[in-house]
Amino acid sequence: MMDVCHYPLLAHNTFHIDVYARRFVEYGSVGELQWFLATAAPGELAHLLHIGGGSNLLFTSDFEGIILHSGIRGREIVGEDAGTVTVRVGAAEVWDDLVAYAVGQGWYGAENLSLIPGEVGASAVQNIGAYGVEAKDLIRQVETVRVATGEVKTFEVADCGYAYRSSVFKGSLKGQYIVTHVTYRFSKEPSFRLEYGNIRAVLEQEGGVPTLQRVRDCIIRIRREKLPDPQVTGNAGSFFMNPVLTERQFGRLLQDWPDMPHYPAGEGMVKVPAGWLIDRCGWKGKSMGKAGVHDRQALVLVNRGGACGADIVRLAEAIVESVRQRFGISLQPEVNYVGHGLKE
Ligand code: EPU
Repeated sequence: MMDVCHYPLLAHNTFHIDVYARRFVEYGSVGELQWFLATAAPGELAHLLHIGGGSNLLFTSDFEGIILHSGIRGREIVGEDAGTVTVRVGAAEVWDDLVAYAVGQGWYGAENLSLIPGEVGASAVQNIGAYGVEAKDLIRQVETVRVATGEVKTFEVADCGYAYRSSVFKGSLKGQYIVTHVTYRFSKEPSFRLEYGNIRAVLEQEGGVPTLQRVRDCIIRIRREKLPDPQVTGNAGSFFMNPVLTERQFGRLLQDWPDMPHYPAGEGMVKVPAGWLIDRCGWKGKSMGKAGVHDRQALVLVNRGGACGADIVRLAEAIVESVRQRFGISLQPEVNYVGHGLKE
């Protein structure tokens, strides 16, 4: 187990915000996590933040509590039949390594989620999604440890409350359970999801029939064209969620903005791209101090170098305000803001 005081978080957040944690603990097994929870001083568990790859976080100050990080690695096949294979994976495995492994094995289902930054544990908390697929489509079970008692609890997928970029682990049970392992089911039978955006067109341009590797390569190319590489430019992917409107709200907006892209979002609801709204407000490529808006995807805010959390927040607030004024829509961050971690 690693347990360090005054620990730099620069390498633990893809926004590259230079802040420190009062204490940083990384455990390597369920037993070590239980031991940590059992021996933490009373009150310390109230100032705990569990992070994964830090690809969806915005630190707005040093963190005065304990940052926990999983070091639970490994993957094992736990079930297989003629059409499917079920794999149990440690929360600290890198998500895209799992996707590459599944594609290499000829297993279908994860390829559209190629190159999403972050770790397996976060896939189950955040219900990561892209190009018409969400993690919940693959997840069967989520194994956790309860913070208050240290007991192990396994959630079946139906009990995880999955919705767009959301789950019980982010919602009603936030902070109460730590994900240690996730079990995914892949299909051995060919089945592709190519309807989103230009995936099919890009594949056809190359003249190839879809294969798992070709779809993965195509998704990687599309992402690299639109999204900044967090190794080079600090960012946390989409900064805001795409707003979901009632058909009535959307109908009124469509009168003024007939070219507004939109997607069905369940009974009577319509999802509109926040990137389009922000773009239409003229923000694409703009900067405010050391914070900026990516020039190829307005939904992505970037650290132009040396920005602090407050710089990014100031830009985000200005964007929210202009979208509210122009469209009457309140954008909600998808990125989680993390302050000093003490109760106000
Ligand atoms: N658009 C613009 N201008 C922009 C950005 C987008 O006009 O600056 C338009 C595009 O032309 C397109 C529409 O908005 O018509 C949607 O854009 P895109 O396909 O890039 O997807 P998105 O809705 O902006 C979502 C996810 C991404 C995911 C892509 C592909 C959210 C918040 N974001 O973005 O997820 O990769 O779809 O599925 O749902 C992330 O969560 O970090 C992330 C990158």
